[in-house]
Amino acid sequence: NGDVSSRIDYVFKVVLIGDSAVGKSQILSRFARNEFSLDSKATIGVEFQTRTLVIEHKSVKAQIWDTAGQERYRAVTSAYYRGAVGAMLVYDITRRQSFDHIPRWLEELRSHADKNIAIMLVGNKTDLEKQRAISTDDAKEFAEKEGLFFLETSALNASNVESAFFTVLTEIF
Ligand code: GTP
Ligand code: MG
Repeated sequence: NGDVSSRIDYVFKVVLIGDSAVGKSQILSRFARNEFSLDSKATIGVEFQTRTLVIEHKSVKAQIWDTAGQERYRAVTSAYYRGAVGAMLVYDITRRQSFDHIPRWLEELRSHADKNIAIMLVGNKTDLEKQRAISTDDAKEFAEKEGLFFLETSALNASNVESAFFTVLTEIF
């Protein structure tokens, strides 16, 4: 409708990827609804949520897609990446394996997504600092080498979740 208050200037699709249990769905839930759950279930197939925000005086609807980290529950890869202008590549700072798999996720992303996609490497679960297995410096070095943005977040205490999405959305803009 023509109502100024509901006018959307842009719709941006952003995809979440990374191993199972790194916190993709909870990052999304924190961003879209400001909610968090400790007994989050593994995602099956694809889900998405939206949030409309104002960036540089324009109304931007962020459509954030979330799929399963587990291979057997994953959505059709090409459809998932189609039209995405941003991506969050998530690992868990307490699980080395989830960081070691990042190059694979990046490869999948680069082979299916638009070459101009804005990519943010996200180290989640900073509230578990005592169990940290990946140093901030190692992740930062990897991100620089690959030309990715980088932030560490906690979906639990909401640290940097907004910044991560705003950085990607502003870059797209
Ligand atoms: P799949 O859907 O299987 O790919 O997993 P996912 O990446 O979506 O993980 P999910 O968001 O379901 O979170 C997995 C577990 O980690 C859940 O128990 C969450 O509550 C927990 N979790 C997510 N984010 C955080 C966080 O920032 N801190 C802590 N301590 N736990 C978190
Ligand atoms: Mg999930």
